[in-house]
Amino acid sequence: MRESFEQAVAEGRCGDRLWLYATYHCNLACVYCLTESHPRIANRRTLSQETMTRAAREARELGFGAIGVTGGELFMLRDAPETLALLGEILPTVALTNATLFTSRLLDRLAPLAGLDVALQVSLDAPEAAHNDALRGPANFAKVVDSIPRLVQRGIHVRIATTVEDQTEDELRKLCELHRGLGVSDDDHVVRRVVRRGRAELQQMGVDPGPTDILPELTITADGAFLHPFGPTVRNGRTDLDLLVSRQCVPLESALRRFLRVTADQPVGTDVLRDIR
Ligand SMILES: C[S@@+](CC[C@H](N)C(=O)[O-])C[C@H]1O[C@@H](n2cnc3c(N)ncnc32)[C@H](O)[C@@H]1O
Ligand code: SF4
Repeated sequence: MRESFEQAVAEGRCGDRLWLYATYHCNLACVYCLTESHPRIANRRTLSQETMTRAAREARELGFGAIGVTGGELFMLRDAPETLALLGEILPTVALTNATLFTSRLLDRLAPLAGLDVALQVSLDAPEAAHNDALRGPANFAKVVDSIPRLVQRGIHVRIATTVEDQTEDELRKLCELHRGLGVSDDDHVVRRVVRRGRAELQQMGVDPGPTDILPELTITADGAFLHPFGPTVRNGRTDLDLLVSRQCVPLESALRRFLRVTADQPVGTDVLRDIR
């Protein structure tokens, strides 16, 4: 199994990152959110620390090279700092976060991450509060630009992710000036379009991804394993199952077997557009 997976990665059929949807619960309700996350979501679809660390250990044995943690908002979970430290000891880990829950106490609990291969990828959409907050919620900009330097000061690797809907070139240029000033380099800034799934679909926002536009990366959720991290989206409270590859997530090997069967049927090569992430 490890050999087939490594070959699929080498052929460009899939990535070597395992994604974990830690929870669908969130303190925010961004207008384009692909998981329809919000503070009162009925079905939180949370993965336990044990499930996440088990999946990560099995992933390492199967030849995966990295872990991505997303949601929902990971830091809605009480044990998030410890879970991240455990994951970072298994494989290089990036955790996607809105960075709005970082009290001084929580920042202190994150201190061990500075010594590990763990990055926090913080969402920030525009260089000024009005536009950023229209997309991500009231006071979001102020909280994020306060949190980033506090993380950087503690030696934590910070990345920034910008999700683009109607930002101008000038705004994106100013956003780069802002993140450099906050201590985050250009190499640590990801910019990608809103994908028309989840709340973005209800709002008629973003681009419609074609079947091969997004690089397959095995993605584990409480609902099962999916083809890539834009797969387990939610519309009107229900998980979309069009990109489900397996209801079973552990042992990871059985989900990976089904994932490799799906990716084997997909075209590969430089003619395939995979530029959405
Ligand atoms: C779903 S969020 C989960 C992590 C965390 N709550 C956050 O907002 O960073 C992960 C990333 O996906 C982005 N995102 C949310 N909905 C999206 C959509 N419809 N298309 C593309 N990116 C989206 C967010 O802006 C964020 O950068
Ligand atoms: S994009 Fe992230 S912060 Fe915004 S509602 Fe979705 S999960 Fe929460």
